[in-house]
Amino acid sequence: MIKLNSSPADIEKAAEIIKNGGLAAFPTETVYGLGADTFNPLALARVFEVKGRPRFDPLIIHIASLDSLERIAFLDSFDSQRREQMDLLIKTFWPGPFTLVLPKRKEVPDLATAGLPTAAIRFPSNPIAQQLIRLSTGAIAAPSANPFGRLSPSRAEHVVETLGNSIDCIIDGGPCTVGVESTVLELIPGNNQSAAIPRLLRLGGISREQIEALIGPVDKKDDQLKADQNKTAEQFAAPSPGMLQSHYAPVIPLFLHSPEEMAELPHNPNEGYLFFSGKNRNDWLYRQLSGNCSDNCHLQNVLTLSENGSVVEAASNLFEYLHILDKSGVSCIHAETLPEEGIGAAVNDRLRRASVIHN
Ligand code: TXA
Ligand code: MG
Repeated sequence: MIKLNSSPADIEKAAEIIKNGGLAAFPTETVYGLGADTFNPLALARVFEVKGRPRFDPLIIHIASLDSLERIAFLDSFDSQRREQMDLLIKTFWPGPFTLVLPKRKEVPDLATAGLPTAAIRFPSNPIAQQLIRLSTGAIAAPSANPFGRLSPSRAEHVVETLGNSIDCIIDGGPCTVGVESTVLELIPGNNQSAAIPRLLRLGGISREQIEALIGPVDKKDDQLKADQNKTAEQFAAPSPGMLQSHYAPVIPLFLHSPEEMAELPHNPNEGYLFFSGKNRNDWLYRQLSGNCSDNCHLQNVLTLSENGSVVEAASNLFEYLHILDKSGVSCIHAETLPEEGIGAAVNDRLRRASVIHN
């Protein structure tokens, strides 16, 4: 694997690799992606191979200009209301951490969309990603660059450690700023019976509130998900596999707690703790230190997503801190839920899915 930086010459090298059917990991504002040419089925097959990803889990197609949209999406079936909604969403959230699932053109290979009649499309804001897309084929299919079901990569090192041996190159663009994946919204035409309500398939960098402020109510499939949580990935034909219950998981068990439960947890030096805010951590430490905990017991394996309690900062640190605790030698991670507001809801969603597999 070749390690590249974000210089124009290096981005050009990565673009050549993609044009020639290779795999290039690259930074986006959300997490690192594992990119291949959307129109090269062999390269797409390698993406699934390398990630150990089931073929029923479609990829997001990354574009860097609105002209590329209609190479992927087939919008003739949209009525004027759908068009308006789409235009408004695009104008407001692109480029950025927002993915639209739209009816696809038949030229888009089935492997990219797992045989679905729709394609997920995103215009990332990271300038390195944009340049790579423009210099290669204009449409890069890329899942997050992590082994299937595991923690997403928010730094180049995370990719090198897990997939380094099986990909062709990586562009190191430093840590990702948003820190959780894009929000995925499905926008498809209604049928005779119903005017389909746009469906939120995955919470992410853009909040449900932001979307609803723009286009009105959207559907979310969480209730059905809860009913299905005993099924395995293979049994569960999820409308979007990012909705699978066990996902985004560290190797060691993760237990999720409300702030109240977290405050009551006894400290065990062999376990890891992930607090939302400095205040919550300090309240907990205060209890621990007035008990029989030694003076420096708080120093190790106790991390705080945001000292001053910002959900945005917490999101940007989430995967990095989970990676750190996962590798620290502790036997499990106790994590605290965030306030369910803005991007905090997406962080809670990832924490819930990271915890499920072990419950
Ligand atoms: O922020 C992101 O979205 C990152 C960066 C690299 O762009 N990418 C990412 O890709 O998270 P991935 O493959 O890990 O997640 C893609 C999600 C999956 O949940 C997948 O099921 C869903 O998008 N998806 C893709 N195509 C779909 C489709 N046609 N219908 C429904 N869901 C789809
Ligand atoms: Mg992923």
